[in-house]
Amino acid sequence: MDLYEYQARDMFEAHGVPVLAGEVAETPEQARAAAERIGPKSGGVVVVKAQVKTGGRGKAGGVKVARSPEEAQALAAQILGMDIKGHTVKRVMIAQGAQIAQEYYFSLLLDRANRSYLAMCSVEGGMDIETLAVEHPDKLARVQVDPLVGLDPAMAAQIVSEAGFPEADAAAVADVLVKLGDVYVGEDATLVEVNPLVKTADGSIIALDGKVTLDNNAAFRHADHEALVDHSATDPLEIMATDLNLNYVKLDGNIGIIGNGAGLVMSTLDVVAYAGEEFTAKDGTHPRPANFLDIGGGADASVMANGLDVIFEDAQVKAVFVNVFGGITACDQVADGIVKAYEILAGHGKQPKPLVVRLDGNNAEKGRAILDGAALPQLERVDTMDGAARRVAELASLAD
Ligand SMILES: Nc1ncnc2c1ncn2[C@@H]1O[C@H](COP(=O)(O)OP(=O)(O)OP(=O)(O)O)[C@@H](O)[C@H]1O
Ligand SMILES: [Mg+2]
Repeated sequence: MDLYEYQARDMFEAHGVPVLAGEVAETPEQARAAAERIGPKSGGVVVVKAQVKTGGRGKAGGVKVARSPEEAQALAAQILGMDIKGHTVKRVMIAQGAQIAQEYYFSLLLDRANRSYLAMCSVEGGMDIETLAVEHPDKLARVQVDPLVGLDPAMAAQIVSEAGFPEADAAAVADVLVKLGDVYVGEDATLVEVNPLVKTADGSIIALDGKVTLDNNAAFRHADHEALVDHSATDPLEIMATDLNLNYVKLDGNIGIIGNGAGLVMSTLDVVAYAGEEFTAKDGTHPRPANFLDIGGGADASVMANGLDVIFEDAQVKAVFVNVFGGITACDQVADGIVKAYEILAGHGKQPKPLVVRLDGNNAEKGRAILDGAALPQLERVDTMDGAARRVAELASLAD
């Protein structure tokens, strides 16, 4: 889960990372009131910052300096509702204005390939870090951080030295990096990025902007992280799936996918994407997977019904592929599940969409016989994974 800047700011503060005062506002009036409280800390100057989970806010006009509460209100009115790279601004943060002397860059992230954390740090702030990494890779220090040791003071000193900070600032910056390392480990993050980390006119080091990604797999260790979830920004189908306890991820294609076992579903996505290249829909696009949905082992009829329910709700879905390799759950149980799922959905007045089913493995013959006997509308059986993937791609390409 990605956090908004204001959430990252609060999290930094809780771990002792130096940050400036900041308050979130949802209306221009709230922005003005926040500016009245915060402005006096910085000579009346505040910064109105769009809160969206995407980068490049400043360049898009989503970060503006206000010199009075009235101006903060006017700027908030401008920024609220703005579209930044497809994200509508619903909140702004009113931040205390900083007198910036220097802008630096720091991030700490998970480096899976090296089974390590990776710290990146640069004394060159103010530039896109992606551009810096390409054009001046020598100016971006990259330091492996052993996860078993963490970002301790010795490691922080090494990062600061490799990034080339002047001697006078080294200790203060290293101290902030240790605290950011504390955020990373303490909150089970997979990314903590500060761009810019600044030195102010009075010499203090402050995290002026923060991006934090939390590891959802560790959510059970952090009851307080639930409050950080922005339900209004989550896809409604994903909310429905979560409520039904399904392992569902919305994608942007038009072929619904259901399988048992994450590995099988992942390879089904690949096979369907590959098969889709052969077909072209009327709008000129190639059919592609619309979702990931793993109904797991031991799935009963209600799980299949819930899965089909979520997928049929997806207006983008033109055809559905149920790909099951029977193991602990035998194929006849899965077939029964599909038949019951159709009954449940019909009971809710829902129309089925073209559906291709591939059953293989434990009791495959029995399962196939059940489906054939039920003669469900719009359902086709194809017994190989590649064949079924081609057929569902074809059906999706034929749909209006
Ligand atoms: N509180 C502040 N006081 C003074 N200047 C600020 C403040 N916050 C941001 N700025 C200035 O605005 C620039 C952009 O701000 P920020 O880094 O928060 O947004 P961004 O980088 O455009 O967005 P993103 O990080 O999402 O790409 C900073 O580099 C800094 O120069
Ligand atoms: Mg930034």
